[in-house]
Amino acid sequence: MTDLYKLPQQGQPSDAVLTQIRDLRAMMTPGDLGKLSSTAFQGRDEMGELIKSAFNEFLGWNGLFTFQEPAAARLENEVLDMCIDLVSGGNQGRGNLTSGGTESNFCGLHAMRAWAREHKPEIKTPEIVAPYSTHSTIHKTAKYLDLRVVTVPQNEDLTADMDALAKAIGPNTIGIVASAPNWPYGHVDPITEMGELAIERQLWLHVDACVGGYILPFMRELGEEIPPYDFSVRGVRSIAADLHKYGYAPKPCSTVLWRSQEEQRFHYLPVTEWACGLYLSQSFVGSRPLGPVAAVWALMHHWGREGYINNARGLLHVKQQITDACDSIEGLRTWPTHGPLMMIAAEGFNIQLVVGGMEQRGWRLLGVTHPPAIHLTIDIMSDDALTAFIADLRAVCSQINSGELHSEGLLSYGGVGAEEEAPKWLLSAVEILGDIDHG
Ligand SMILES: Cc1ncc(COP(=O)(O)O)c(C=O)c1O
Repeated sequence: MTDLYKLPQQGQPSDAVLTQIRDLRAMMTPGDLGKLSSTAFQGRDEMGELIKSAFNEFLGWNGLFTFQEPAAARLENEVLDMCIDLVSGGNQGRGNLTSGGTESNFCGLHAMRAWAREHKPEIKTPEIVAPYSTHSTIHKTAKYLDLRVVTVPQNEDLTADMDALAKAIGPNTIGIVASAPNWPYGHVDPITEMGELAIERQLWLHVDACVGGYILPFMRELGEEIPPYDFSVRGVRSIAADLHKYGYAPKPCSTVLWRSQEEQRFHYLPVTEWACGLYLSQSFVGSRPLGPVAAVWALMHHWGREGYINNARGLLHVKQQITDACDSIEGLRTWPTHGPLMMIAAEGFNIQLVVGGMEQRGWRLLGVTHPPAIHLTIDIMSDDALTAFIADLRAVCSQINSGELHSEGLLSYGGVGAEEEAPKWLLSAVEILGDIDHG
């Protein structure tokens, strides 16, 4: 690894420093080229300006201290109330703000474990069951919580196998995890059936709606067929839903939502055994930026329901255009999904060649490995960018079909780049962990 970079002895004028920051910013992936993966959800045009201004008003304010700040409490209360309403929580519903999907899933599983300790004290090695499609952060947070995750393979059409899921429930099972939609295949799991199973077997059902929580209600309003997934489903006790995805809040901003206070009571961990009295933060993290909450409050009021519905209409338009294009390109096909995620698979050639070709043309893409597909997070693109994406996809596939293109890109959610470009934490992780299995 390179030598440590040190704090400069003398400062530089702010203009000079800002020039360097802007130079670095200019090296980042241009918004349009990452719109279907890493740069999705970056505010655009007038919406972006509003979000920035609202964020800046609260820049530096700490969400840990909202108990001393009625104005901040109002921002949080109103955002959370709107969120609870969007997941059909009604007056009984409760919610907490978190830093992201990982923390929201962590909180859901943590409450599930605390509930099980009270209701199923005989279980000493708790397990959760989930379809294979469950997100990596369910596995990760379960590791922190010492919960064993039992996953069952998907059906052939990549939907959740409910029979296998029911059979996987054993004497140590404390809960079920569903997704709305799941990240790899874009399906909303059969949550009504999972809810019935949870009630029958007396299990906690947590729904990971990090992607869908703040977009599916609006897509449904536009006539899309979206299976039930929220508190309207019996048996659902907690939901993770990210404001910093389709709520368009700047990161970090997410919510964990509870059917009622009966579930939320397993969430809180007050601390008094230290020198400064009660310490009670609303979720796992302590200090938290208020800027994202102010920004999403502003957007929710600026757009209103109508604005979010218009945005959903725009997303469906992008999805349809890409689907139609793939249908007309020899060798490509898309998987049917619920909502805003999209997968492109290949028949007759290796999809990694498409990733490689698209990368050469500047596009940033993520992938699914089992089975192989390109993963798209649909966001609004300019007409020009959408046309360019489709034209490049067409050109790359024809290069592959004529045998001109041979370089494969990686289908992945992560990866290790060239050493001089990689973050040091990642290089260090690779050194510590040895050969990392890429799945
Ligand atoms: C279904 C799902 N759950 C959880 C997460 C984790 O969210 P975050 O990266 O905000 O922690 C993601 C991220 O893409 C996701 O798609």
